[in-house]
Order: sequence, then C-alpha cells, then structure tokens
Amino acid sequence: MLRTRNGKCFIGGVAVSEIAEKYGTPTYVYDEKRIRDNYRRAHKAFSKYYPDFRFFYAVKACNNPAIAAIMKSEGAGIDAASVNEILLAKHIGLGGGDVMFSGNFLSDDDIRQGLRSGVIFNLDDITILPRVLKFGSPKILSFRINPGYGRSNVGDFVTNAGPGAKFGVHPDQVLDAYAAAKKAGIRRFGAHMMPGSCITDADYFPFITGLLMDIIGKVGRQLGIDFEFIDLGGGLGIPYRDGEEALDLDKAAKKTAEIFSSKLREYGMKPPRLMMEPARYFVGDAGYIVGRVHSIKKSYKKIIGTDVGMNTIARPVLYGAFHNIVFDGKKSKRTEKAGLCGQLCENTDFWVKERDFPADVKEGDIFVVENAGAYGFVMSYQYNGRLRPAELLVNNGKCSLIREREDFKDLVANTRLPSHLK
Ligand SMILES: Cc1ncc(COP(=O)(O)O)c(C=O)c1O
Repeated sequence: MLRTRNGKCFIGGVAVSEIAEKYGTPTYVYDEKRIRDNYRRAHKAFSKYYPDFRFFYAVKACNNPAIAAIMKSEGAGIDAASVNEILLAKHIGLGGGDVMFSGNFLSDDDIRQGLRSGVIFNLDDITILPRVLKFGSPKILSFRINPGYGRSNVGDFVTNAGPGAKFGVHPDQVLDAYAAAKKAGIRRFGAHMMPGSCITDADYFPFITGLLMDIIGKVGRQLGIDFEFIDLGGGLGIPYRDGEEALDLDKAAKKTAEIFSSKLREYGMKPPRLMMEPARYFVGDAGYIVGRVHSIKKSYKKIIGTDVGMNTIARPVLYGAFHNIVFDGKKSKRTEKAGLCGQLCENTDFWVKERDFPADVKEGDIFVVENAGAYGFVMSYQYNGRLRPAELLVNNGKCSLIREREDFKDLVANTRLPSHLK
C-alpha cells in the first residue's frame, strides 16, 4: 500500500523519490509483501470453507516472471491464455496439471503446442474439440461455460460472460460438448467459467456459482461424469476509488462454498477440487506507476504533462477505468482543477480530463498512479517511440529490478531493412 509520511510517498518501505532518481520514470513498482498478503488472505478465506481448493494465477494480468514466481511460491498454478503464457509458466517451473490453458479461438498451431506441453485444456467452444482431437487427446479436459450472465465494474468493456461476451460454451451446448468428449475417449474432466471482472459484490459469486452448478450438475448426472475440478474463474474485485467498498471476501467465500457444496449434494456429485483463477485481487493494488511531471501548461485549461501516458497505462482510455494519482511531497491540502496527460501525439492520451490536483504541482514533481498492478504493464506499448517502462519489485525496503526499461534496440528488435533500402 502507498504510505505517506509528511506528504512523502513510500512503496514497500522505499521512497518513490529514490525510485525515480535511481531507476528513472515511468517505472512500474510492485510491493511483494502486499501481493503475498492479498494471496494469503484470499486463499485462507476460500480454503477455510472448502479445503480442497487451489488458485491458478491468471498471468495475463501481470506477466513478469518474478511476479508469477511469487504466486508459485505461494502454491498457485498458472492460468495461461496463450502458448507463450504456457511457456512463461514453464520458465518458472510449472507445467502439466499446474497449468490451465484457457485460450480463445485457438489456431491449429496453438492446439498442437498446447497438447505437446501436457497442460490442462479448457475449451471455449464445442467446435474446437474436433480440431483438438485431430492432433491428440488432452489428459484432462474442461469446457469454459458461459452461464448466461456476467458483470464488471467498467460496463460491457470487460464483461466476459453473458449474452454479449465472445467467450464460453452456451448452456444449451454443454451436454453435447461433454458427450462428444466422452465419446472421443476422454475420461478426465473439469468445468470452468469466468464470471466477470472486478466484482466487489460478495453475493455475486454464490449467485453465478449456483448457475454454473445447475448446468454441469445435470450434465454430470446424465453422462456419468465425475468432474475432477470446477474452476470458478477470476473476477474478485478491488476498489479503485476512494470510499469505494472493498469485496467482503469472507462472505463471498463462505456463501460460494455453501452453494457449491449444496449443489454437489443436490446432483449427487463427487466433491471435486474447487479452483479459482483471479489476478487483479492479488496484484492490482500491489502495483504502482512512478512518473514525473515534465511541464505544466495553462491554455484553455491547466494541463499537467507527464511521462505516464496511455502507452504506459491503457486502462483509462481503453475502457474509462479510474486510477487514483498521488503527488509526492505535497503537504498543502490546497487543490486546483487540472487535466493530466502523457507525451503521445494523440488526444486520447489526455487521460485525465479534469481532477482536483494539488495546486502547487510543478515541473519535475514525482507522482504515483495507484492500483496499476493488474492489466497495467502488460498493456503498455511503444507508440511514438515511447518505450516500455522498467519494472521494479520492492520488499521491506529493498528493490530488485525485474524488467529493464526498453531502449532504442527494443524499438528496432526483430525488424529487417531489405537490401534495396539500406
Ligand atoms: C479466463 C480468465 N481467467 C482469469 C482472469 C483473471 O481475472 P481477474 O483479474 O478479474 O481476477 C481473466 C481475466 O480476464 C480471464 O479472462
């Protein structure tokens, strides 16, 4: 958590001014202790009510191997969205049943490589099954089920279940999907859903779990399938705005486990392993961007020009997400309305149109963008030759650089000049 002492900001015991000085800006900074605390709090809550429980970290949210290795050391598996994320899991020593491959609209090559890696296959549609079977048979297979309902804190942009989503098997096709897999000789099964994104309403999780269980309970009974695992996906939310209520994790876990267990009894199912694959809850509020103000202009309005743009953090312009911004070393409470932007030649880069910022912000000031650990660095890009930031892990006053800042070499990496253009 960002701590302030006399207006000075600290992450994991390190002053952000020191980070800016030593590592430059913009820099993504992750607080290891906060990640571990988040993980342990969540794991304790769910395993208390359903002991055969495991998290698979959705590595897409923050794919630095050091962050994934923290999750591994806590006992998590990896949820991979692509072959390269399977390779990333392998890079930190996880494979086989410790990795869940939940790809979307997979190519033949994805399927071949996924099968070769021996990870758990989670298919997004019944039509992918014959394509998988052309190349081999996964040891254990699940289908991602779209239970017909989804939710998110930023509207339809990231609602990844329900009728408007591109994901998952329609409830009416689930029986056919598992029947086809069984007919093809597959004997070990799981079931999966992704219920939505950044949900802080504890009651939502038991509600959507009930929907999923009603779908797969009937299917299991009809086909004589014992599910080895049921994966309730991610979506555990965090507050982004001051005063926003946090998810009551204990309530979510207790009520989810209750409905889960009662549906197991209702459908006579053997108790499977209960899995979830969150990411934001673990890393979201443990990650920050440390940036610097480069100039301040007073034109039609006051604009604070910084080195943190939509290329550094895409969420605000991609789907209107809010990130709190704290300026370092500001003791006065006096504020003034101003906008804040990055350095790109796009007006969408004017990502805070107006907010109350300290009135005494000046050139050279350091600031921190909060809650940037999930879907932050992974969505950064090189537009305008503004290269990707560094990533830093801090723990109890100690810093480790976990990704170097890009330089010009990275801008031209993998490019070739044809001989007639040399
Ligand atoms: C399949 C799947 N699992 C897990 C997650 C992680 O979700 P969250 O960060 O909301 O916990 C996502 C995020 O989009 C996802 O698509």
